[in-house]
Amino acid sequence: MHPDTDATHLQYDVLIIGSGAAGMSLALTLPEALRVGILCKERPLEGSTYYAQGGVAAVLDDYDTVDSHIEDTLRAGDGLCRESVVRFVVERSPEIIDWLVALGVQFDTRISASGRSEFHLTQEGGHSHRRVIHAADATGKEISEQLYAAVTQKSNVAFLTDTIALDVITTNQLGLGSKTVCGLYAFNQTLQKVQTIASPRVVNATGGASKVYLYTSNPDTASGDGIAMAWRAGCRVANMEFNQFHPTCLYHPMAKSFLISEALRGEGAILRLPNGEPFMSRFDDRAELASRDIVARAIDFEMKRLGCDHVLLDISHKPADDVRRHFPTIYERCLSFGIDITTTPIPIVPAAHYTCGGIMTDLCGRTDVDGLYAVGESTYTGLHGANRMASNSLLECLVFARAAAHEIAESTRPGTTFLPIPGWDASQVTTSEEDVLIAHNWDELRRLMWNYVGIVRSDARLIRAQRRVRLLRREIDEYYEKYYVNRDLIELRNLAQVAELIISSALRRKESRGLHYTLDYPNRSTSAEDTVLEPTNYL
Ligand code: FAD
Ligand code: SIN
Repeated sequence: MHPDTDATHLQYDVLIIGSGAAGMSLALTLPEALRVGILCKERPLEGSTYYAQGGVAAVLDDYDTVDSHIEDTLRAGDGLCRESVVRFVVERSPEIIDWLVALGVQFDTRISASGRSEFHLTQEGGHSHRRVIHAADATGKEISEQLYAAVTQKSNVAFLTDTIALDVITTNQLGLGSKTVCGLYAFNQTLQKVQTIASPRVVNATGGASKVYLYTSNPDTASGDGIAMAWRAGCRVANMEFNQFHPTCLYHPMAKSFLISEALRGEGAILRLPNGEPFMSRFDDRAELASRDIVARAIDFEMKRLGCDHVLLDISHKPADDVRRHFPTIYERCLSFGIDITTTPIPIVPAAHYTCGGIMTDLCGRTDVDGLYAVGESTYTGLHGANRMASNSLLECLVFARAAAHEIAESTRPGTTFLPIPGWDASQVTTSEEDVLIAHNWDELRRLMWNYVGIVRSDARLIRAQRRVRLLRREIDEYYEKYYVNRDLIELRNLAQVAELIISSALRRKESRGLHYTLDYPNRSTSAEDTVLEPTNYL
């Protein structure tokens, strides 16, 4: 037996990779008769969901309509959303909020003009109404904690923490024909062993891939593992060129990944140049409330034009009590860096925030591999098109997780027989004494993605990036073949795979649309096409 192999074969009726909004709401919706395992690479609450600030977009007020939410989403998506999918999601938004409230999620309320208590709805970019339900500026924390509390009440669900899924296993990899999932290999960081877990239903709820960029609002979990694993298992991925850069992340040497919610602009914050001049109305009639692609590009343009390293976001003209009440987390965090946002503009820069493309699924989360599902940010469902509208992501996670859970419940019998899966073979590998190679490759990859595949692109930059990423991938694969796995190596291998998918997709798009802006093709083409990559037909 080699040190990173474990003979223990775990078995679940349903195995969910990821404990964010997508993974936990799916687990909660499955029937109690199914034995469910939830893998997470850190503790259960760690992931993008926990850090979500602004809220959840939903049609909740009398003055709002499903059609208006759909229209705003289509406009933000710049011609690439699938309208039927947008309708599917938006129509379910009120029942999703009811479900969360029934679980105990406490959203902010206010007293209406008629003296009624009602939800306080905030405003964000791209929305033509106040439509975003929230728990102050820590909506993700509130949702995650309530989902977690509910999941831990279920005796049929077990968390497998500090355990990283390495690769899903399919029947055709085992020489058994057809492409059907039968389990996965996972690296248990506590035991320092690769475990084999058998399951006829594997759900990929692993979140996005924004760690592929040097500067990101995302936590460390967002390394695109699920997208890379699904691709290796034979799933198509789509629209990987559409990486969303959030316009406003705190610019401070000690503030790793801290987002300043778009809701600040919804409540009246103004973007200013370092000399105090507002500038957004020069770029879009909606000024600060234009969609995110437009605002991030405008900031990037101004920073390059002036040679400055940040711009400012100013909410100091609003009543200090209101600011502290609505944005307590942001207020406290900025104060800890010496910035009182009630009196001083906040230095901000754009940073990678959201992966709009991903694993292709249908409306029930099914992928191209039988038994393999995907939900949440790791997917391409057709909702977001070329640019996700603010606060539509948590909504997508919840709607698709519940739809997938219903499908799995109907198609899965408890106690199915599990296929025998060979254990992880570590007989040919050894301990690395050169971890510096991995650390260097991490930095090189994320830096080149930031410099060459960022907010503004060109063919020359993309081709350079592609050449370098292919070389990095070769080096990483050689390393993977030789040494025991660890978290850094697993994530780097996945990030490099995802980087290549992003660059290939970007090179295929000969136009500028939504989040993909290239100097070589600055105009939008008349026909809107998804970029679909297939593992079997890929150069
Ligand atoms: P996540 O919540 O990221 O969870 C992923 C899970 O997968 C984690 O448990 C992780 O441990 C696990 N995982 C990943 N890889 C592996 C692996 N190999 N093995 C085992 N486990 C693995 N969206 C909104 O709609 N509204 C907002 O207000 C909002 N604010 C945001 C603020 C911030 C700072 C960020 C970063 C994002 C925000 N978003 C917001 C986007 C939204 O939070 C995410 O898109 C959404 O939470 C993704 O949920 P998820 O369940 O798909 O993934
Ligand atoms: C934010 O609060 O600005 C993030 C919202 C989102 O990403 O949807």
